[in-house]
Amino acid sequence: MKGNHHFYRGGLLAHLHGSTKMALNMVKEVKNFVNLDLIIFGASLHDIGKIYTYHEWKEERELKSPITEHAKMLQHSYLGMKLISKKFEQYEKLDPSIKEQALHILASHIEISEGGLIKPTTVEAKIIRFAERADCMLSNYLMNRNM
Ligand SMILES: [Fe+2]
Ligand SMILES: [Fe+2]
Repeated sequence: MKGNHHFYRGGLLAHLHGSTKMALNMVKEVKNFVNLDLIIFGASLHDIGKIYTYHEWKEERELKSPITEHAKMLQHSYLGMKLISKKFEQYEKLDPSIKEQALHILASHIEISEGGLIKPTTVEAKIIRFAERADCMLSNYLMNRNM
């Protein structure tokens, strides 16, 4: 698991919070051109599929959050889309185009070589890709600096 970002208890929540702060700072300059609801949705939920891809955190170093069979087979971007698609069924009045754009953010938030499903094609999806990457890189830098 060495090399994974935010690799500590509560790391997923810290990353989603950090990504949201990054994304909101990025959109300050272009807020008239982006859907802020999609930005907040994407930044705060882009990694929700990870709740299925890690075992419960263990304090013993060798057991720290090993990945599950789900992670090996399906990756968190797909698992997150599946979870959110199911949730969207409860929101019949929500614009289908918005649902699709939201799912696109989950599908495209990481490189295809890392488990992403598609390249980002909307400005909101691109901002989430940049924001979450920036948060990962900053976290890794700060953790390595403190070792
Ligand atoms: Fe991710
Ligand atoms: Fe992420």
